[in-house]
Amino acid sequence: MDRFIPLSVPNIKGNEQSYVDDALALEWVSTGGAYITRMEKAVAEYTKTPEAVACQSGTAALHLSLICCGVEPGDEVIVPTLTFVAAVNPVKYAGAEPVFMDCDDSLCMDMDKLALFFEEECDHTGGSLTDRRTGRRIAAVIVVHVFGNIADMEKLMDMGKRYGFPVIEDATEALGSRVEKGRYAGRFAGTIGDIGAYSFNGNKIITTGGGGMIVSSRPGWLDRARYLSTQAKDDPVYFVHNAIGYNYRMTNVQAAIGVGQMERLEDFIETKRKNYRCYIENGIPLLPFREGTRPNYWFYSHLSERRDELVGYLDRNRVQSRPVWRLIHTLKPYEDCRSYRMEKAPYYGDRIINLPCSTNLSEREVARVARTIKQFG
Ligand SMILES: Cc1ncc(COP(=O)(O)O)c(C=O)c1O
Repeated sequence: MDRFIPLSVPNIKGNEQSYVDDALALEWVSTGGAYITRMEKAVAEYTKTPEAVACQSGTAALHLSLICCGVEPGDEVIVPTLTFVAAVNPVKYAGAEPVFMDCDDSLCMDMDKLALFFEEECDHTGGSLTDRRTGRRIAAVIVVHVFGNIADMEKLMDMGKRYGFPVIEDATEALGSRVEKGRYAGRFAGTIGDIGAYSFNGNKIITTGGGGMIVSSRPGWLDRARYLSTQAKDDPVYFVHNAIGYNYRMTNVQAAIGVGQMERLEDFIETKRKNYRCYIENGIPLLPFREGTRPNYWFYSHLSERRDELVGYLDRNRVQSRPVWRLIHTLKPYEDCRSYRMEKAPYYGDRIINLPCSTNLSEREVARVARTIKQFG
């Protein structure tokens, strides 16, 4: 019988095991230890940013990012609808309300529509941006670099400057994606906005089992994120806590896996690039990544008019695939929230199927998936 081909699974075949053994041998298993610092340094050096703060998950990284941006209960935060729900839930953790935006053909937030929203629906007076309909302050924008693509950051950063809001980059899916042309040439996804979050969940381009990282160009923000992620401890001996903190720090064992994975990130991107090309050469069109970027090719998106039937057909042929996420503004906890001129997201939301993209997928297996899709017709 043919091997079951999973959608996206970890690849742990480098130094990860020996680093974990080392962490265990030293009995540094919790939220302190040298591997955490090494992991932070590895991500900071790779993304060419001075510093990084390791967290328990990408979700925790986003929650802390919102706090660092000064988002407060009652504020509004602009978010995309076509993304994983964990990009939006932290807005609610912070007591704020999401406002949902449409995507463009890169699947990332449509910046022209966002500009229209600010012009048509908002007041910009006294340095503050207010949603005219609700009277709420717009405190931040969370932009998601969907599937390893990079959103149009030039337009977004210009709007941030004009209206005075901070930009949070959800780069959870885009570690290693880099801008190659224009004003931000050479900059990595996550390091362009005011603060950025990565995820090392099991299905991401590198994994620590569960884990995340925060990077920021704003002085003091990473110190605050680190402080809040470690229970806001103000005295190392006496239990003095001058703020409400969180238990959001990465553990040394997770970080040991991560240090091993970071050594292999460029190889993973190269494999994903090759397999992406291989699908196309085998006659399966995939959505392109944005011109002028070097994407990390994390997830592959194919369009099908009979998408849900195709998911079932592939499953019966031992190939795992997934329909793209249900649009968040249609999910129960968010159905009463404000959303703005949804057009492209519903189109893509009904048609995208994500195909196997693990880094241990062989070109023969890509050809088998392609053959199965063609048999489906
Ligand atoms: C767009 C997006 N945001 C946030 C997250 C949350 O990351 P984590 O699973 O590490 O909490 C993920 C992935 O899981 C994601 O894909």
